[in-house]
Amino acid sequence: MDQDQSEENPVQAPTLKLNYEVKDLSLAAQGTQRIEWAGREMPVLRQIRQRFAQERPLAGIKISACCHVTAETANLAIALKAGGADAVLIASNPLSTQDEVAAALVVDHGISVYALRGEDTATYLRHVALALDHQPHIIIDDGSDVVATMVKERPELLKNLLGTTEETTTGIARLRAMLTAGVLTFPAIAVNDSQTKHFFDNRYGTGQSTLDGVIRATNILLAGRVVVVAGYGWCGKGTAQRARGMGSRVIITEINPVAALEALMDGFEVMSMDQAARLGDLFITVTGNKHVINRSHFQSMKDGAIVCNSGHFDIEIDLVSLGELSTGKRSVRPFVDEYLLEDKSIIVLGQGRLINLAAAEGHPASVMDMSFANQALAVEYLITEQGKLTPGIYNLPAYLDEQIAHLKLAAMGIGIDTLTAEQIHYMNSWDEGTS
Ligand code: ADE
Repeated sequence: MDQDQSEENPVQAPTLKLNYEVKDLSLAAQGTQRIEWAGREMPVLRQIRQRFAQERPLAGIKISACCHVTAETANLAIALKAGGADAVLIASNPLSTQDEVAAALVVDHGISVYALRGEDTATYLRHVALALDHQPHIIIDDGSDVVATMVKERPELLKNLLGTTEETTTGIARLRAMLTAGVLTFPAIAVNDSQTKHFFDNRYGTGQSTLDGVIRATNILLAGRVVVVAGYGWCGKGTAQRARGMGSRVIITEINPVAALEALMDGFEVMSMDQAARLGDLFITVTGNKHVINRSHFQSMKDGAIVCNSGHFDIEIDLVSLGELSTGKRSVRPFVDEYLLEDKSIIVLGQGRLINLAAAEGHPASVMDMSFANQALAVEYLITEQGKLTPGIYNLPAYLDEQIAHLKLAAMGIGIDTLTAEQIHYMNSWDEGTS
């Protein structure tokens, strides 16, 4: 934390006239390099940023964004600012902040950032409060903590709110629960549900970056190991597919019979966690649910079993029970804790937090390009549609999803076919069948 900062009053940089709380402003040059490197892989967001700079569709709009403070997110924040937004950024996870990126956003882009790698829960909650003090018109959320806190603790701010955009499956589940409880009084755009988001970010982003995190933390060989993936949603599919590609024997656990069947027919072994717990060498949770690995699973595990999580919150692995079963715990490498039980040890990576962001760098920029293009367009959509959207959860319109896919393909130099007039006519008629 900056030397001068008190807990209650984040420092105001005299030259910058900006509130912020980052680890070290002198890291800014490094951060700028990282942001530029990521930006090379983000052509769709770049085009949106260029249009935003000309059209200024976000002028006068206050945005509070709660995201992983990475080089990719920085490119989003810069695009929002180019569009005229007054944006504040806080970290959505204590272990994902890239301190040099946070510094660069403050120093080189004049964006208020409250994010410190390793921040504790009290600091996180203070940052959520600061994000709300900004009195946002739009919240960009990653897990729905800011939105839920506004509803619970600062309802007077709801009158300013045009709406919220949500990045994750987990956050959307929470928004649905809020809708059911009758407390969602504003429109929410489910950015995660855009096809150009979850098909690529959740599947290929999580798939690659999760294994990247496991490998960077442990340097284990995946070939020949039994990898248990809990959850066969898009994140689970990507993780399982990539683990298989590395030569692992992959077991899927599921609670949804359709997803379980899909995993089976995709060629994976499927069983209950009770059974899989005995067999796994490496466990990866990507369910979005709580205590997917529990006390009895730890009791069944082999000596040296490795456990990690790539779901949004650190609730998937019951670390309290593991602590109770253990006689001690030691750190054996960065991001690697060994829990010592009577008869064995169990290894936990990244304190059960998102391993892809804790031990690696999160999803590669090329997929975040599409995710954050969706975020930028969702923000613009909330502005253009203000007053027209009733409270509820919306997908971004399909034409915007397709626009993002077209731009991405074009940037990759890939051309596709278009329908002929004859084909359009055929697709819209019913009378032409067997000839
Ligand atoms: N979520 C997953 N990977 C990410 C990244 N690289 N930046 C921001 N949010 C992410």
